[in-house]
Amino acid sequence: MKKIGVLTSGGDAPGMNAAIRAVVRTARARGLSVCGISRGYNGLMENDMFEMDLRSVSDIIDRGGTILYSARSPKFKTEQGMDLAVEVCKRNNIDGLVVIGGDGSFRGARDLSLKGIPCVGIPGTIDNDISCTDYTIGLDTCLNTIVQSVDRVRDTSESHDRCTVVEVMGRKAGYLALESGIAVGASYIIIPEKPYSLDEVIKRMKETLKTGKRHFVIVVAEGIGGVANLAKRIEEETGIESKSVILGHVQRGGSPTAKDRIVAGLMGNYAVDLLLQGKSNRVVAIKKDEIIDYDIYEALNMTKSIDLNKYNVALEISI
Ligand code: ADP
Ligand code: F6P
Repeated sequence: MKKIGVLTSGGDAPGMNAAIRAVVRTARARGLSVCGISRGYNGLMENDMFEMDLRSVSDIIDRGGTILYSARSPKFKTEQGMDLAVEVCKRNNIDGLVVIGGDGSFRGARDLSLKGIPCVGIPGTIDNDISCTDYTIGLDTCLNTIVQSVDRVRDTSESHDRCTVVEVMGRKAGYLALESGIAVGASYIIIPEKPYSLDEVIKRMKETLKTGKRHFVIVVAEGIGGVANLAKRIEEETGIESKSVILGHVQRGGSPTAKDRIVAGLMGNYAVDLLLQGKSNRVVAIKKDEIIDYDIYEALNMTKSIDLNKYNVALEISI
C-alpha cells in the first residue's frame, strides 16, 4: 500500500476534521501518500482530489464541518457511478480509501470494497445510529449544542409560563432526542422508536400542573415532525400558551468537544492501520472505550435499540 484516499460523506458532523487530521498524519507517519477527495463520492467520481501533507491538516482540529466538504450522491449508487469511482481510484493509484460518514456512506464503501477498492469506514454522524458502535463522531458536540439551545428556550419558557415543543434532529433515530431530553430535563420526550399518545402527554402535564409546575419543555425527534401542530393541540387541551422551535442545522455545526476530537483521533489512526494490515471492508467502532473493527456487512446488519429503561427514567425524573 502506497497511497490512500480520504473522504467525508453524508451529513457532516463536528469532529470530522479531527478524523481527517488523524488519517492524514498517521498515513504520512507510515510513509503513505494521502489524497483528500472533495465532496464525498461526488468528488471521487469527478476526480476532484488533491495531495495532502502534514501541514494540510494544521489548525483544523477545532473546526466544525469538514474541510473536504460532504455530499449526498445519488449517482454513486448507480452501476455507472460505481464503475466510474472504481476507475478513478485505479487511475490515481489509490490503494485504499477511508470513508468518514454514516451507514449510507458505509454501504457505498462496502460496494467499492466488493469491486476491489479496499475501504475502511469511520462512523461520523450526529445521529449515533450506527449499530456496531457505542459512539459516532459528532454526537457529543451536537448534544451539547442542543442543551445550550434548550437551556435558552427554558429561560423564556419559564418567564412566560409557557410550554415549548422543541424539534431536534434525527429522522429515523431518537437517540439525540432521548439523550438531550434527559440532559435538559424535558417534561416529555417523543421519539420514533416509542409510540406515544397525545392524551398521555396532556395527562402528565395536567398532573404536574397540580404540583405547581408552570412551564414545560417537550423534546421531539425530527422523524416525528409536526411540532407546530403539537404545540397548538397542547395549548388547546391544557390552556397553557405553547410555542414550537425547530433547532435545525444549528445542531450540526460548531467546534467539536474534547470527546469528539479524541474519538476522531483514535479512530482515524486505527483506520489507516487497518488498511496497512491489508484489511478491507471494515468499519471502525468503539465499544466500552475500546477501538475495534467489524466487517461492513456484519456492521450494517446489526441493530441497535433505544434503551427503554433510560426513557422511563427520563420521564420518571421529569414530573
Ligand atoms: P450517511 O452516510 O450520513 O448515512 P447518506 O445515507 O445520505 O448519508 O449516504 C451518503 C452517500 O452514500 C449517498 O449519497 C450515496 O452516494 C452513498 N450511499 C448511500 N446508500 C448507499 C447504498 N445503498 N449503496 C451505495 N451507496 C450508497
Ligand atoms: O444524518 C444526520 C442528519 O443531521 C439527520 O439527523 C437529519 O435528519 C439529516 O442529517 C438532515 O439532512 P440534511 O442536511 O440533508 O437536511
